[in-house]
Amino acid sequence: MNNEKISVAILGATGSVGQKFIELLSDHPWFEIIELAASDRSAGKKYSEAVNWIMTTPLKEKYKNMIVQKCEPELKAKVVFSALDSSVAGEIESTFAENGYIVISNARNHRFDSDVPLMIPEVNYDHLKLIRKQKHKGAIVTNPNCSTIGLTLALKPLYDNFGIDAVNVVTMQAVSGAGYPGLSSMDIYDNVIPFISGEEKKMESEPLKILGSAKDNSIENAAFKISAQCNRVAVIDGHTECVQVNLKSKTKPEEIINIWQNYKSIPQHLNLPTAPERPIVYFYEEKYPQPKLHRNIEKGMAVSIGRLREDPLFDFKFVIHSHNTVRGAAGGTILIAELMKAHGYLDNL
Ligand SMILES: NC(=O)c1ccc[n+]([C@@H]2O[C@H](COP(=O)([O-])OP(=O)(O)OC[C@H]3O[C@@H](n4cnc5c(N)ncnc54)[C@H](OP(=O)(O)O)[C@@H]3O)[C@@H](O)[C@H]2O)c1
Repeated sequence: MNNEKISVAILGATGSVGQKFIELLSDHPWFEIIELAASDRSAGKKYSEAVNWIMTTPLKEKYKNMIVQKCEPELKAKVVFSALDSSVAGEIESTFAENGYIVISNARNHRFDSDVPLMIPEVNYDHLKLIRKQKHKGAIVTNPNCSTIGLTLALKPLYDNFGIDAVNVVTMQAVSGAGYPGLSSMDIYDNVIPFISGEEKKMESEPLKILGSAKDNSIENAAFKISAQCNRVAVIDGHTECVQVNLKSKTKPEEIINIWQNYKSIPQHLNLPTAPERPIVYFYEEKYPQPKLHRNIEKGMAVSIGRLREDPLFDFKFVIHSHNTVRGAAGGTILIAELMKAHGYLDNL
């Protein structure tokens, strides 16, 4: 691995996830942001004028005067992180890939393309090889939905060790998941909204592709059913999920907790810069995990789990929490790029 950093660009740099990319990449050891791009509303302006900066760390000087570019494949950086609104992401990402760019995306549009990996690096790193089958000059890799990521990380050790028969999940999702400016305060303050458009379908389908097996040209999905109910709650960052699960073979709570606590995978073995040391953190305290206290565990890259217990309807139930814009978006996507670099997919760009 040489010491020169890889130039990258952010598409959708002015949005909530785009800003998180800038925050997380500003001192990255392998990647350097050289271009920021967004819609025609922002293109041509200085970044500091185009953006309503909502991160808690100040916007660094080096980004303030960058001129926002159009999302057209004339960027110098050959690796682009996409934080584009899904109403436009599909076509823009395809155009970039056709023109030789490596696109690593948070948007939903290409997640179910048969040759596109839907990737959580700890869970299905072996799906990366699918991109060799893509017909573009470049490639597209996608990050799952923000609530899928926490759920699937928690399920992976159960799936590998005991098999899964069925999953039921009820979410309490943060307002930042709706992008910026998102919901009006009049709608969400003092409230719970029991509907997030498209979310339940994503949660019921994405984990099955991620936990599926990579065959020569596509993925054979995992064969169990998931039922999801998704709610928006008045929390700024961090999605909480109450999960019930039926396993194929019998086990005890202590064994599950032990497996979760010791769970490590390729990103940890490769010591990737954004990899959490502990991808899964288990709490024995009955009142944990909580978004306010635990969203930033392992710099926002871990899933926190608590309250594992036996259930009268299913085998077990438990509560998980993960940071939606870090693990569930920008941080998860950066980890994918690190895995790709470590495996040589970003060589010779
Ligand atoms: N928020 C989360 O927790 C989360 C988690 C996982 C995945 N995601 C996904 O990540 C993506 C970004 O989400 P977000 O929450 O950051 O949304 P957001 O705050 O609404 O930002 C959307 C971005 O897309 C740009 N954009 C909109 N229309 C465009 C166009 N016609 N051409 C080029 N750029 C355009 C916007 O630029 P302007 O400012 O110039 O309009 C902005 O930079 C979405 O696909 C979302 O589903 C979000």
